[in-house]
Amino acid sequence: MYDFIKKILFCFPPETIHHGVMRGLKTINALPFGKHLLNAFCQPKTTGLERTLWGLHFSNPVGLAAGFDKDAKYIDELSHLGFGFVEIGTVTPQPQPGNDTPRLFRLPEDKALINRMGFNNEGARAAAKRLQKRRSNIIVGGNIGKNKVTPNEDAVSDYEKCFHTLFDWVDYFVVNVSSPNTPNLRALQEKEPLKQLLHHLQTLNAQKSKPKPILLKIAPDLTDEQLDDIVEIVQETGLAGIVATNTTISRENLATPAATLEQIGMGGLSGLPVRERATQVIRYIHRRSGGNIPIIAVGGIFTAADAQEKLDAGASLVQVYTGFIYEGPAIVKKICQGLTPHQ
Ligand code: FNR
Repeated sequence: MYDFIKKILFCFPPETIHHGVMRGLKTINALPFGKHLLNAFCQPKTTGLERTLWGLHFSNPVGLAAGFDKDAKYIDELSHLGFGFVEIGTVTPQPQPGNDTPRLFRLPEDKALINRMGFNNEGARAAAKRLQKRRSNIIVGGNIGKNKVTPNEDAVSDYEKCFHTLFDWVDYFVVNVSSPNTPNLRALQEKEPLKQLLHHLQTLNAQKSKPKPILLKIAPDLTDEQLDDIVEIVQETGLAGIVATNTTISRENLATPAATLEQIGMGGLSGLPVRERATQVIRYIHRRSGGNIPIIAVGGIFTAADAQEKLDAGASLVQVYTGFIYEGPAIVKKICQGLTPHQ
């Protein structure tokens, strides 16, 4: 059924469809039996997949990755699609328009997307306001970043502003230093700036009466030496975990013709081509940390087998983005049906 709908949806520009479909979902959710309809089609019925991590109770381990609901506009609707948790953002302190369109591209031959959105979002305050009004009690993560105009030397203050603004309204935080679409952002993954940033956020966190889990989201393009540094810093700063991985800047082994890739240009690649590398990164971190760092796995998850691969590599939870676009709204239900209970 979704294969047929997808054929029609894929005839239109990806960003237009994204907003159109989400507005449609809001309308369905507002209808008298809308919620029940969504629940019936999408809500997983599988038992034994609950998890408790950082004192948070996840009804199932499948979440929605950052970037899909950047401004926390659709939390209630997404909760009816069965997600165990939703990560909003990346949110920046000030609203910003992001890069010029077109900035999102489908690569159907590769079951992939390329995006250079550039943290288009309405700002941390707008997201916080919406979160205050949400009805669903689904677990929400706040993925935070810096504004494009903020130089890296001042990045800490941008993350701090987002942290304070969202603190009361999210269940966990993700520090995003791994998007390829904000110039120089990924330099914050280097040892010294990263240590400084995470120390600062953890100090602020410790001053709260009930600190929140803070995780770090990393790129799949890091070397083993860089991953060693990350593990060391995460352990040293007592961070709650790692989200692995963001999109890749690599264009290796794609079926999409080189000319098409050239025409698309810069951006982060997601979906099937990033699956294997994301799993490698997860396995590496898991082994290197002796299994002591909780990992949220993201990158190329389309099926239960893909999710199971990530859990077997050491992840505690998984997230989808590109898989949601290609597999449709029943993806969480399908993944949950195929997962081993109490993994
Ligand atoms: C993303 N991703 C992302 N990640 C993030 O931390 N902040 C963001 O704002 C965004 N924005 C974003 C937009 C679009 C259009 C895509 C496709 C992706 C990355 C995303 O959360 C995820 O890490 C990767 O896409 C890999 O997972 P999938 O897509 O292969 O399941």
